[in-house]
Amino acid sequence: MRKLLIIGIGAGDPDFITVQAVKALATVDVFFMLEKGAAKDAMVETAPRALPAPRQAVAIASVEAPSPPRERRPADYDACVDDLNRAKQETFERLIADELGEGQVGAILAWGDPSLYDSTIRNIEAIAERLGLAYEVIPGISAVQALAARHRNHAQYRRPAGRDHHRRRLAEGWPAGIDSVVVMLDGEDTWRRFADQDIDIWWGAYLGTPQEILIAGRLKDVSDEIHRVRTAARERNGWIMDTYLMRRR
Ligand SMILES: C[S@@+](CC[C@H](N)C(=O)[O-])C[C@H]1O[C@@H](n2cnc3c(N)ncnc32)[C@H](O)[C@@H]1O
Repeated sequence: MRKLLIIGIGAGDPDFITVQAVKALATVDVFFMLEKGAAKDAMVETAPRALPAPRQAVAIASVEAPSPPRERRPADYDACVDDLNRAKQETFERLIADELGEGQVGAILAWGDPSLYDSTIRNIEAIAERLGLAYEVIPGISAVQALAARHRNHAQYRRPAGRDHHRRRLAEGWPAGIDSVVVMLDGEDTWRRFADQDIDIWWGAYLGTPQEILIAGRLKDVSDEIHRVRTAARERNGWIMDTYLMRRR
């Protein structure tokens, strides 16, 4: 039987890759990649760095998925995501059928932890039966954990209801009854909507990588700075991944 591992490679730093993931990476015959451009390149560089030297030169089969539409109005969002995932499923199905031999182990790498805002598990679940594919998930250190560690946060993460929040929902307004909000996947600087309120922010980009940037403070004091730094960094690197925690005072 062919086997596929969905491996969380942590948020940036190869040292965030768990021992379980290193052991799993060492068994892989073929890697399947659907990340794009510079973000894909960063991923391809991160995972092999955690492997023992002879395995670092591993050949990585790489393919690019169709890009999601840039303008995503909330009303279209779910349909866009479904379309994108269908395209990814077709690509994965073709690739795995063509490239993964009987008895071989394939792997798909996911930034952070594969269970958090990542469609890989869902996409593989949709095609596994047709392919006669067994699959396993290896957890990783997510960007939320990396952000908390870098800013040495603690109490903000105690309330389960306030743990994480999609940028899309935050754009509809601050969630009722919640003091702390963690935001991922924000391409629209949504924190700026709350800059007139009494809120603290802990922001981190490229966490765990050599490009890491951290900014923290009262939102009204640092909102413009984060916007400026984020815009410049995105231009300079050609991509950005950032996560932030906001907490009402
Ligand atoms: C599709 S989600 C994947 C999250 C990932 N599965 C995790 O557990 O961290 C991508 C978002 O994760 C966040 N992210 C991932 N890696 C990051 C990093 N190294 N630094 C800052 N944010 C990161 C960003 O908010 C980015 O938009």
